[in-house]
Amino acid sequence: MMKTKAEEKVSILFICLGNICRSPAAHAVMQHLVDERGWGNLYLIDSAGIGGWHVGQLPDKRMRECGRQRGYNVNHHARQFDASRDFDCFDKIVVMDEENYRNITSQAPNETARKKVIRMADFFTQHPSATCVPDPYYGGTEDFNFALDLIEDGCEGILKALSNH
Ligand code: 4NP
Repeated sequence: MMKTKAEEKVSILFICLGNICRSPAAHAVMQHLVDERGWGNLYLIDSAGIGGWHVGQLPDKRMRECGRQRGYNVNHHARQFDASRDFDCFDKIVVMDEENYRNITSQAPNETARKKVIRMADFFTQHPSATCVPDPYYGGTEDFNFALDLIEDGCEGILKALSNH
């Protein structure tokens, strides 16, 4: 179905391995940033995992709690990335690390789809030496908080880049 330009939202899909730690946190942070600017009608935010192990589950308790302490509602129910739909449905597909990048780009059906895949780390401004958002799943609270620091930095950078028009 054709949409008029005014009806179009910028759609952003955040990707990580399990969709229970990093990408649902990025989803919540970006939704928060968009909402606090009054741009909720201009952006569509979602997240998905490469693996299907946690489909239907709420995010990891540790990420829900670390997010809550910063005012984010990290409550997405995990779903698995679906190349047959998601490359069409989203304008930007944001990955957390190089393994994610390789996996998702390898599923792209064409160059247009491949170019939608971008790395969160390319938008860091406060963490110039960080090259990815490391997986905190096997770590401790400090790893979850560091992932959130990076995610906040990257989401600010992405939103700035997308709204510079
Ligand atoms: P995430 O973390 O990719 O940030 O959601 C992980 C969560 C679960 C698993 C791996 C990474 N897992 O193997 O179950």
